Amino acid sequence: MRKPVIAIDGYSSTGKSSISKIIAHELGLVHLDTGALYRGITLFALNNCTTADNQIDLPHLFRRLSEIKLEFKVINNDLVTFLNGIDISKEIRTNKISQTVSLIARQKEIRDFLMETQRAAAKNGGIIMDGRDIGTVILPDADFKFFLTASIEERTKRRFLELQRLGIEADEDTVMKNLTQRDKIDSEREFAPLRKADDAIVIDNSNLSKLETIQLILSHIQTF
Ligand code: DC
Repeated sequence: MRKPVIAIDGYSSTGKSSISKIIAHELGLVHLDTGALYRGITLFALNNCTTADNQIDLPHLFRRLSEIKLEFKVINNDLVTFLNGIDISKEIRTNKISQTVSLIARQKEIRDFLMETQRAAAKNGGIIMDGRDIGTVILPDADFKFFLTASIEERTKRRFLELQRLGIEADEDTVMKNLTQRDKIDSEREFAPLRKADDAIVIDNSNLSKLETIQLILSHIQTF
């Protein structure tokens, strides 16, 4: 039997990736964190495609997209992101990347470049993909679509704790500003903006634990 394709979209720090990872494990699916793809390209751009005054040179980046190879490997039960053979999973979580990634994700050239990779991963089913435009643009025919949201205060708290766990220095004010700004850019951009698909199930998990959110999602999947 063909395994399902599940799309999980929503705001930053609603727990999309960690929740998707656990659901993938429960249901025997592959998990693809598409935000890591945009973060990986941002890292490449910051390392290789900047102007003399340290701004990202977008035309230069677009010319070099074919040099970028992003891969995921499961290591010790964790999905590790590789950029051209180098483990970048920690580096792509830094504030610098978080502050720059929306500029990269807004570019049509970048979205087009990543579209086929994402669609190809879902071709044979058996995948849960989390991002911003999975249910609307990348996989409009997904079997299940969820849209996660939560209050800005709760999301700030979660992101701050995540950064602390990773040993990355941050303060709550900066984290909140970054989340608010990123959601604004992601929602207002011209191509594939962050938007709930018409047929997505909305889950506000401000007052739900990670486990409760997972159980709620699983209950929808199991009743179909
Ligand atoms: O989920 P995340 O915070 O790691 O995503 C990083 C950025 O990438 C986020 O600001 C929006 C963008 N993104 C996107 O535009 N489309 C996706 N499918 C996933 C992420």
